[in-house]
Amino acid sequence: MRAPYSYAVLPLDTPDDDPIWASYVNIFRTVFLDSRAADEGVATFRAHRREDGAVLGMVTTEGPGLGGRQPVAAFNVARNTINHGRGLQPVLIVNTIGVLPSHRRRGLLKEMMRRQLDAARDDGVPFAVLTASEATIYGRFGFGPVGRGCELKIDTRRFGYRDGVTVAGGSVEFVDPSFLNDHWKDLTSAHQAAHRGAVGHQHVHLLLDTGAWDSEAAGPSKSLRAAVHFDEEGTPDGFALFRFKGWEESSKAEVFKVCAADPDVARALWKALAEMDLIETLLATPSTLPDHLILSLADSRAAKVAEVGDGVWLRLLDLPAAVEGRAFDADGEVVLRVTDAMGYLDGVWRLSAEDGVGRVERSDEEAEVTLAADVLATLWHGDRTASQAAAAGLVEGSPEAVRRLGRLLRWDESTENLAAF
Ligand SMILES: CC(C)(COP(=O)(O)OP(=O)(O)OC[C@H]1O[C@@H](n2cnc3c(N)ncnc32)[C@H](O)[C@@H]1OP(=O)(O)O)[C@@H](O)C(=O)NCCC(=O)NCCS
Repeated sequence: MRAPYSYAVLPLDTPDDDPIWASYVNIFRTVFLDSRAADEGVATFRAHRREDGAVLGMVTTEGPGLGGRQPVAAFNVARNTINHGRGLQPVLIVNTIGVLPSHRRRGLLKEMMRRQLDAARDDGVPFAVLTASEATIYGRFGFGPVGRGCELKIDTRRFGYRDGVTVAGGSVEFVDPSFLNDHWKDLTSAHQAAHRGAVGHQHVHLLLDTGAWDSEAAGPSKSLRAAVHFDEEGTPDGFALFRFKGWEESSKAEVFKVCAADPDVARALWKALAEMDLIETLLATPSTLPDHLILSLADSRAAKVAEVGDGVWLRLLDLPAAVEGRAFDADGEVVLRVTDAMGYLDGVWRLSAEDGVGRVERSDEEAEVTLAADVLATLWHGDRTASQAAAAGLVEGSPEAVRRLGRLLRWDESTENLAAF
């Protein structure tokens, strides 16, 4: 990097009393317009990042006002897994990125991105994921949105399933969120194993979901509530997290998560939430558009979807490994040219699939379709089709070849992700 900037990784075993921890966390607190981090916030960040084995990338510099060499940009990541239909694949979660306003637009994000993605790719990690503060930043780095988040508003007075829609037997109990301590890992893992598109939860999610940490309260949560579903034998098989939003206009509950491997259990939990006396509205911001929930309702207009936007953004770092770990629901073959400014996928590839298993190899044939790495990523979870991307001017090729690519990448299973990062 150009002096006086220098890239470094803040070691996880840096002593707790080193002031660099607060400087690092305060970069994020500054760029996301929060108050300065309290000691508890810094300690919690340190604890969950250590637990996840995170890599705390940063750019340091020196100059007036800094009091010696200090971090001015931070980019922290952690390895995790993602379900692409053939077991869990390694994924790099890009957690939080921040560049202090005084050092913006000097290439610091670009430098940190390149180093962290190169390191993951060299280590055989085929994917990276992130959630974006703005839609215009990450396409240039090969990330494309793979799902759609939204704001879901359910009118509880109109809530009810269509005749014949099944709901799990067993029971639901409202419990203190700390009850989940002994069950959270199993329940979130079962959800991830059952749903394509699901990214593994991180340690901070355990702290949040059990009420041990609430960033607004800078300590344990006072408002988080949990409902747990138990099967006929009394074993927990799903949970929902929510809080009451008060009485203004109409009484509301804000739903943070409904986690169940089995859709019948998820329906039992939504029903339990909707049937709470006095609650007129359930408000949720799921990171995957909950079409299945809306379809299951007798009055589909009881659920209103607003603020539809992007959820998870995906980056393919290694096409052969990505294809090997992805389920293919249709057979077929296509020769595609991928343009990738970062180089990882750049070139012509023959992609094929048979009996659910994909294969890809470099090819010297003439490409039938051409698309950029971020567009290929956008098609990877089947939320958008190749024809839609072609109609948007993002895929070149004959309509027949584009349809063939679309069929090849089609997923018949719906996706659901519960982990936000
Ligand atoms: C967004 C942010 C990380 C960018 O950091 P930066 O060091 O200024 O970015 P760089 O100088 O490396 O820019 C790299 C490229 O991204 C572009 N870019 C950077 N920020 C952008 C933005 N907010 N919108 C659109 N493009 C952006 C730059 O123009 C540059 O483009 P180029 O390569 O085509 O010239 C920084 O401004 C920031 O911390 N913002 C507030 C917090 C935030 O949004 N964090 C990201 C969380 S998901």
